[in-house]
Amino acid sequence: MFEHEFRLAADICYLNHAAVAPWPQRTVHAVQRFAEENGRVGSQYYDHWLQTEQQLREQLQQLINAGSSDEIALLKNTSEALSVVAYGLDWCAGDEIVISDQEFPSNRIVWESLGPLGVRLVQVDMGSSSSPEQALVAAITPQTRLLSVSSVQYASGLALDLEVLGAECRRRGVTFCVDAIQSIGVKPFDVQACQADFVMADGHKWMLGPEGLAVFYCRREWIPRLALRQFGWHMVEVPGDYERKDWQPAASARRFECGSPNMLGVHALHASLSLLLEAGVDQVFKSVSSNVQYLIDLLIKHSVEIVSPIEPERRAGIVTFRVPGVASDTLFRDLRAQGVICALRGGGIRFSPHFYTSRTVLERAVGLALQVQEI
Ligand SMILES: Cc1ncc(COP(=O)(O)O)c(C=O)c1O
Repeated sequence: MFEHEFRLAADICYLNHAAVAPWPQRTVHAVQRFAEENGRVGSQYYDHWLQTEQQLREQLQQLINAGSSDEIALLKNTSEALSVVAYGLDWCAGDEIVISDQEFPSNRIVWESLGPLGVRLVQVDMGSSSSPEQALVAAITPQTRLLSVSSVQYASGLALDLEVLGAECRRRGVTFCVDAIQSIGVKPFDVQACQADFVMADGHKWMLGPEGLAVFYCRREWIPRLALRQFGWHMVEVPGDYERKDWQPAASARRFECGSPNMLGVHALHASLSLLLEAGVDQVFKSVSSNVQYLIDLLIKHSVEIVSPIEPERRAGIVTFRVPGVASDTLFRDLRAQGVICALRGGGIRFSPHFYTSRTVLERAVGLALQVQEI
């Protein structure tokens, strides 16, 4: 139904939405229109741009079921949002932070950077218990202040049960932070159901938007409690009154946005999200799950080793695999050379199809991967 939105070159198999996604046609056109308008009349209609920006906050609110768009800040990327949390919390020497041992560097380095303050980072071996949630919960001690996890691990594609983790954090008084970049846009995500305090995700993966514009959800109660580390004209309660000498931070999460917004990114992401919301995230997830299942079945049929969890409730849009007898980096180079856009992650090949990806593309990509085995 939305196939016409994707005009990818016929000779490529695009299976890299877990890295950087291609744009739908409506996003391409929104950016073209924005560029053309800028060239013609500059910012004459800035008030329209602000309306688009507000609509984007509302789209994001809807996508993650936030209580209000006031809990949404538009930041540069996931790493910036994690840094806003890390340097906004009030740490004491001896405090502990729990993460998994499979995290993308953004959700490790920022916590390691707190080491000089005496904050200890605990990296949990996810294989140490029969369930990854149990392993994470078992690492919580009276010193634990924060649990920070990716909702879906970038390399293996393992999806965590966030509701279990959020409930346990709430019960134990531990702050819960979720890097949701591998979930939002592919899988229903509900900040209220999982009781997250902070959630962040850049728009260039499953949300089908550009790089450099991320959603940062900050639970209402935390907005006044996070210390501010960046300041400017935009984060104040009354941003347009430049003559005014007294100021206070905005009551909303806009207080985390210090200066001029990324209006080009706003127009692009707004268009991309309109597509996802039109398609419906439940339907998107159904189609992605069906694609992922199809891929797994095809690969298993040819005795390929699946690195990702195969239980449906443990996955989102990522399938990582190894072909026996073929080095993954060789296979990766070969696939890329043949137009299969994928990634080398976790010692294997990561395929990440989206909802619009056709079976033909999946079959062609798997066929090419198996040919390398035969060389
Ligand atoms: C789990 C996870 N977090 C964060 C990022 C990227 O972070 P940023 O938006 O800061 O570039 C990635 C990108 O691969 C990721 O997979």
